Amino acid sequence: MELNINSLQELFLKKGDFTVPQIITDAVSSCIQTNPENIEKEIVRLEQIYSSYIRIDEPIKLDYLDEATIDAYTIKYLPRNTLIPKIFLLSFAEHSVLRNIPDEISILDLGSGTGGVVLGLLDMFRQPLFSKIKVKIAALDSSAPSIERQKNLIQKMDVSNCEVHHFVVDLSKPKEYLRSMMHLAPYNYIITANFLTELKSSPINDLLVNAREALSEDGLILIAEAPRLYTCKLMVRLSRFLLELGLNPFYPCPPDFECKKGINEQCWVWFETNFQCPDISIAGEELEVTDVLKTTWSIYCNSQYSIYDFLNEGDPDLSWGIATPYGNEFSIKEEMNYEVCTTKGPKTVTHTREKAIFRDKKSVILRGAIIGFDSNSRAVKAWHPLW
Ligand SMILES: C[S@@+](CC[C@H](N)C(=O)[O-])C[C@H]1O[C@@H](n2cnc3c(N)ncnc32)[C@H](O)[C@@H]1O
Repeated sequence: MELNINSLQELFLKKGDFTVPQIITDAVSSCIQTNPENIEKEIVRLEQIYSSYIRIDEPIKLDYLDEATIDAYTIKYLPRNTLIPKIFLLSFAEHSVLRNIPDEISILDLGSGTGGVVLGLLDMFRQPLFSKIKVKIAALDSSAPSIERQKNLIQKMDVSNCEVHHFVVDLSKPKEYLRSMMHLAPYNYIITANFLTELKSSPINDLLVNAREALSEDGLILIAEAPRLYTCKLMVRLSRFLLELGLNPFYPCPPDFECKKGINEQCWVWFETNFQCPDISIAGEELEVTDVLKTTWSIYCNSQYSIYDFLNEGDPDLSWGIATPYGNEFSIKEEMNYEVCTTKGPKTVTHTREKAIFRDKKSVILRGAIIGFDSNSRAVKAWHPLW
C-alpha cells in the first residue's frame, strides 16, 4: 500500500470517524486498580481541576502520583491522546520525510505520562504498512507511577517492531534530563502533548532549545496542547521564539507570516475532532471515555518547506490559510465569515453555502481547517484533505 493521506485515513478512520481501537481500550481496562466508584469520583475531580484553569494564565499544578489519579486519567483521557500521533502523521503526509520514511526512526515524547502518545505510536507502527520499520521511542516524564503504568500498557500491546526507553526525569531541570533526552538523538519526530500546560515559561524555553539540538536535520516537532489562556498565549510566544531558534512553521501557521498578535494575546487556532471509542469495562461497569479531542496544533521543522508549498503546488490560483469560524459554525446562515491567517496576513473570508448541503463537509468550515479561497475572498474552493 502506498503511503499517502488517503491510505493513512483508511487506516485510522472507520466510517469517516477517527476510532480508538479495541486493543488500546482492552490494554487500559486490564491495568486499572481502583474500583469504578472511586474512579468516577476522581474523574470528576480531574475535570474540575482542568476546567478551573481554562481562564488562568499559569501552568496547571497537578500531581500524577496516586493510583486513583492515574487510573482516572488512563480511562478518561489516554484513549483520546492515542489519536495525536495519527493526526500528526496525517498533517505531514505530503511531506517528503514521510514519503521517504527510513527503515529505522527514533521519536522523543516529552511529558509522556501514562503513554497516550506512545500507545498511539505503537498502534500505528504495528500496522502492516509500517511493520518493516524499526521504531525507537524515548519517553520522558517526572511521574514514576505514570511511567510504570505506561510500561504495563505497552506490555499489553505486544508490538515487536517498537522499542520504548523510559526515563523518570524532571523536564524543568536541564541538568537532570539532558542525558536522557539525548539517549536516542537525533530524533525524526519530537512530540509534546498536554504537557507544556504544566510547565513555566523559562523551563519551556530551555526545553525547546535542547529539543532543537536533539532533532534530526529533516525532523519535525509537534506541540499539541488543550486550548486555555496559558497555552493559547504560549502558542503566540513560541511562534516567535522557535523562529529565532531557526525552526520554521510547517503546519498550520503560514510561513513568512508575521503573527500580528501581541505578546499578551492568544492564538485562536485550535481544532476539535470527535472520535469513536468503546466504553471501558471495569468490574462489570462501563466507564465513558472523552470523545472529543480539542487541541492547539503546531508543527515546526528546520526546513522552510511547509504545508502551504504543497497546497500551492496543487492549486496555484487559490490563496490558502487556516480558518476560525465566527459564531456558531453549525448555524444555517447562508453566508459565514471566517478569520483566516494566510501567507499574506490575516484576512476575512466570506463563504456562501447552499442550505441544502448544510452540515456537508463542503458546507461547514471547521475551526482549524486549512482552506483555499479565490482572490475576492468570497468563496472557499478547496480544503486540505485532513478536513
Ligand atoms: C496531562 S499529562 C499528559 C501525558 C501525555 N503526554 C498525554 O498526552 O496523555 C501531563 C504529564 O506531564 C508530566 N509533567 C508535569 N511536569 C513535569 C516536569 N516538570 N517534568 C516532567 N514531566 C512533567 C506529568 O507527570 C504528566 O504525566
